[in-house]
Amino acid sequence: MIVIQAKDYDEMSLKAYEAMKIVLTEKPEAVLGLATGSTPIGLYKCMIADYKAGAVSYKNTTSINLDEYVGLPVTHPESYRSFMNRNLFDHIDIKPENTHVPDGLAEDLQKAADEYTAFAAAHPIDVQILGIGANGHIGFNEPGTPFDSHTHVVTLKEGTRRDNARFFDNDISLVPTHAVTLGMQDIMNAKAVILLASGAGKADAVAKMIKGPVSTDCPASILQTHPNVLVVTDEAAGYYLN
Ligand code: PGA
Repeated sequence: MIVIQAKDYDEMSLKAYEAMKIVLTEKPEAVLGLATGSTPIGLYKCMIADYKAGAVSYKNTTSINLDEYVGLPVTHPESYRSFMNRNLFDHIDIKPENTHVPDGLAEDLQKAADEYTAFAAAHPIDVQILGIGANGHIGFNEPGTPFDSHTHVVTLKEGTRRDNARFFDNDISLVPTHAVTLGMQDIMNAKAVILLASGAGKADAVAKMIKGPVSTDCPASILQTHPNVLVVTDEAAGYYLN
């Protein structure tokens, strides 16, 4: 695990992009594992800016997103499909049919989840972008999720719903109670992982991920056993690492 402590959000985003660009340049048909949330938006801005400058193309890439809320129409502004279209896909040349987000509306959610696992297995992720929850979750794999899990439906923890209420008019009752997420094993199958963390609220989770025991109590701690992980924090999120 390589850890870079950037001074602020913008530098964190740029350092993550520099690492991602190496993959994009070496493998134009890369499979990108993508994440939602506040953390990767700066990285996505770097991707868009460099694409607009003509330095990279996404026309041969495939994307596989980590997660999606259950029950939100895809047109809802806070669905993760909407988030990805708005913050990245609409601004680069990735083919819409090559972008994949779990189906949170399927009649049989577990069947759709199993199909997503199979798709990810058939299209191994070259670089997986991750944020981290204040409780150490990656994707929506909350503490306690088995390390050998695949795509599954999760009941969101109260704290996670509270953290995400800022996107739902600060009204926790509007935050979906369930989500579909790639499992821990699916994430660990990625060839490389870039995890970004920003803000003091992540400092404790970042310290546990890097220095704590490998335990399902802090799902991200499993990354200690992955052979190719880059963690990029800003100063506040890296506070306990020194
Ligand atoms: P955030 O979420 O980027 O909005 O902080 C990260 C996460 O919960 O994984």
